[in-house]
Amino acid sequence: MARDSFGSRFGALVAMAGSAVGLGNLWRFPYLVGENGGAAFIIVYIAFSFLICLPIFVSEFVIGRRSQKNAFAAFRDLSGGSAWKWVGLFTVIVPLVVLSYYSVIGGWSIEYLLKSVTFSFTGGESQATMFSGFVSSTWMPLIMHTVFMLVTTLIVVIGIKDGIEKFSKVMMPLLFVMVIAIAVYSLTLPGAGRGLEYLFNPDFSKIDGHACAAALGQAFFSLSLGFGTILTYGSYVDKKENIFFQSSATAVSDLMFALIAGMAIMPAVFAFGLDPQSGPGLVFETLPFVFSQMPAGGVIAIVFFVALLVAALTSSISMLEVAVAYLVEEKRFTRVSACGVLFVLCWAVGALCSLSFGPLAGFSIAGRSIFDFFDNLSSNVLMTLGSLLTVLFVGWRLKKTDIYDEFTNGGTLSTNVKIFGVLWFLIRYVCPVAITTVFISGLL
Ligand code: PHE
Repeated sequence: MARDSFGSRFGALVAMAGSAVGLGNLWRFPYLVGENGGAAFIIVYIAFSFLICLPIFVSEFVIGRRSQKNAFAAFRDLSGGSAWKWVGLFTVIVPLVVLSYYSVIGGWSIEYLLKSVTFSFTGGESQATMFSGFVSSTWMPLIMHTVFMLVTTLIVVIGIKDGIEKFSKVMMPLLFVMVIAIAVYSLTLPGAGRGLEYLFNPDFSKIDGHACAAALGQAFFSLSLGFGTILTYGSYVDKKENIFFQSSATAVSDLMFALIAGMAIMPAVFAFGLDPQSGPGLVFETLPFVFSQMPAGGVIAIVFFVALLVAALTSSISMLEVAVAYLVEEKRFTRVSACGVLFVLCWAVGALCSLSFGPLAGFSIAGRSIFDFFDNLSSNVLMTLGSLLTVLFVGWRLKKTDIYDEFTNGGTLSTNVKIFGVLWFLIRYVCPVAITTVFISGLL
């Protein structure tokens, strides 16, 4: 049977952008900016995104499109069957770990969407109490996690062209319009200027090893790197497409989304005199309070939580697809049975993460709750390792001529021919050194 693939350039583009734009942009980026010195953090983040992450993105894309295989087989076949295939397997497993806890937060956004539809955000009730009451309960978060996992699985079961691509084609433009609308509204609130100042006035005194590590980790997370996702999506992209164009377009849209999300959230937070540094609770505690106070806040809340949910789904499907492709192509599963098995697996691990806010709160791994453990392990360690191994594979194991051939479509793309030298240098030297340095300085 012929391998499924994306049906159009636009489809491939929105699917990749859909993978990149997610909770990382709307939930993680704004609070990290809040915690790490506003604009100074953004500047470091932008530099890392383009100098380090874009070359990694291209590397994954090249591996996927060159091999036209799932992540495991891509590493195996391109390296002539060597031990590199275990790196491939590693990038198949990591997204499953992330999906498990990502789905828990996806579930929270479903719950908050329902709350906003019923206009449950009231100024009087403390939103922090509402949030902690919800996440520490046993059943509702579990049910919402189940619903989120089910929807993710259903989209993936349908396939690449008819499932993932179609869904992204409809949802990504919608997401874009929704986030812009909220930003425009938020910027018109009295006092919004202070939020902008906070975002765009750099305070470099806050930039230390820890902030740099956070910026790089966030850039990895946001661009879905080191997880086999870009590799797998890349394997579904037509040989005629321009890898560099698609990669840069994804990186730019991901950055735009993060900045617009910041402009949607921070001005509103400042307009109501709230604390921008409220960490992960920013979206689920601070914002509902803001919504309860602002004119037409009820409607804005609905739009915001729909956007959050859509962004989360277009990312979660990309995480699931990596392992589905592996099971179908290597282990002879049908698409349905692969999805079924992975659903059960991710659901079970996610259930533990979900319960770690309530009944399992006392249980810890390496001094962290189960949820924190998975979040930290994947975004700070596994992703970094996956990205490092990917650039080492492309820069030091594969043949330069093959990379050149894939990147320039056999020498026919003149811009790509011109920039190949720079890109190669970044992949071979700059990325490995930078990733290692930032990783180590984050540990110290
Ligand atoms: N990039 C996604 C986000 O920003 C998360 C993600 C990570 C998606 C890894 C796929 C793979 O939320």
